[in-house]
Amino acid sequence: MDIKALVFDVYGTLFNVHSVKEKADELYPMKGDEISRQWRQKQLEYSFLRQLMGKYETFWKITEDSLRYTLKNLKLEHSSEKINALMDAYLHLSPYPEVEEVLTKLRSKRLAVFSNGSHKMLDPLIKHSGLSSLFNEIISVDDRKQYKPTPAAYHYVLDRLELERSEILFMSSNGWDISGARAFGFQTAWINRNQFPVEELGLRPHSIFPDLYGILTQV
Ligand code: LAC
Repeated sequence: MDIKALVFDVYGTLFNVHSVKEKADELYPMKGDEISRQWRQKQLEYSFLRQLMGKYETFWKITEDSLRYTLKNLKLEHSSEKINALMDAYLHLSPYPEVEEVLTKLRSKRLAVFSNGSHKMLDPLIKHSGLSSLFNEIISVDDRKQYKPTPAAYHYVLDRLELERSEILFMSSNGWDISGARAFGFQTAWINRNQFPVEELGLRPHSIFPDLYGILTQV
């Protein structure tokens, strides 16, 4: 593989979206797990629905709307104070434990992130984590208003990096995302953190690893 750039998905791949559980449990004792699970599921569902309906809103708004839905669905108080506190937690998600070590070992290569997140979400999140200096580019679908897994979203990566599809190694923990990248023509490494089965889409990733360490054996 003639890889000229390594491109990482953000939520679920570099950062643990479920690290909001601590704040959720603080605000809603014993409900953190369920809030975090339903919130992530509804957040992704809204991104797919808005893309299909042609009703784009930023991932920040989708994340807030899906949180509000989740709290209402669980019959929990959904004051703006509590919603704002959980939204702020989304700007301070924990990186997975191996991220800094692996990215540092890869720093001689061209590294980018590519996410549904808007810059209002991505820039502070990556800054707070101390990982900013490791990335050459932070690429948001919000610049094109097309969510993953649409081909238009992945095409924006080509435009920004000025590379061919086969020259990009894309990594994501999300089965729907790595399938979209495979369909588009990127080299793909699925970071299967949760030991899920391969999606039944006929789009098997080129390689599968339980965490980012596996990438070091490939590039
Ligand atoms: C991302 C998650 C939603 O785009 O996959 O960062």
